[in-house]
Amino acid sequence: MRDWRRAWQAALYSPRGFFARGERPSAHFRTSPLVGPELAEALLELLDRVDFALDRPAEVDFVDVGAGGGELAVSVHDLAPAALRRRLCVTAVEVTPPAVPAGVRVRTDLPSDVVGLLVGHEWLDSIPCQVVEVHNGQIREVHVDDHGTESLGPPVTGAELDWLNRWWPWPVRAEVGLSRDTAWADAVRRVRAGAALAVDYGHVLADRAAGRHREGTLTGYLAGRQVRPIPDGSRDLTAHVAMDSCAEAAGGGVITSQASALAALGLSASAPAAGIAATDPVRWLDEVARAGRIAELTDPAGLGGFHWLLHWAGMEA
Ligand SMILES: C[S@@+](CC[C@H](N)C(=O)[O-])C[C@H]1O[C@@H](n2cnc3c(N)ncnc32)[C@H](O)[C@@H]1O
Repeated sequence: MRDWRRAWQAALYSPRGFFARGERPSAHFRTSPLVGPELAEALLELLDRVDFALDRPAEVDFVDVGAGGGELAVSVHDLAPAALRRRLCVTAVEVTPPAVPAGVRVRTDLPSDVVGLLVGHEWLDSIPCQVVEVHNGQIREVHVDDHGTESLGPPVTGAELDWLNRWWPWPVRAEVGLSRDTAWADAVRRVRAGAALAVDYGHVLADRAAGRHREGTLTGYLAGRQVRPIPDGSRDLTAHVAMDSCAEAAGGGVITSQASALAALGLSASAPAAGIAATDPVRWLDEVARAGRIAELTDPAGLGGFHWLLHWAGMEA
């Protein structure tokens, strides 16, 4: 029996852990970069705004932290307009670096000095947390064995208790977001000038105080299905991210939904004009498919409900 944070860490990142042995997210669940090129297009629009605010420096970074198979980093590199691409340095950060084309750098640790845009797309939800439950008015750690059988551990104290008191009042069961706060604050600190963006499924205090997610959100994914969270290395383990505590830990940022963010960056799911079907059916089909992908990215009940947390660094927003 170990506390959930240690068991989760080992299940994903010990040498034979799920991600450490090179499992690719695309084989197990669908994320926005896998839907199509549209997320990369929107992030290039955001990067252009950052680049403009930075006065178009000689080199501008796009850093994708927790890059998975590198799909987002590669799309950003490939879709960048020629004038930007000459100055663009795209880096995919991943525990087991993916195979990517020349032109995209890969590394296993976060760069220390970023000028441009750093993105953590569904990165924070993969950072292990402590799991706790309330019993007889006391908040206790939850311990777990390799088969997923749980028992109660010691009472929660110190910084984890402070976090729960501040960020997750009265749960039945909860994940303590402190490890995500620390990771995100560290990532944001590495941006000397530009912006840092976390995109993830998450919640904010208003949700938690209203009793949403009262039983916690820890779950597993395997081969496209949601499965029981068993920390034996066979499956992804994940939990929603407390976006507001990450924002505060990193000095305050703006939280919005993916649907609103993509609209602000110019993506629209409007269907093509019907007349095109007769004059240029191939283009019409392309545009219908694109509208379908944007509808998926902006669906409020799905990917559109994801949170975008944006911080500006070293310049005026
Ligand atoms: C949920 S997947 C998301 C993959 C991709 N960003 C996407 O949205 O399709 C999370 C990824 O973050 C990676 N990861 C977690 N912690 C990391 C770290 N400290 N450094 C690099 N990669 C990390 C995991 O290995 C995993 O591939």
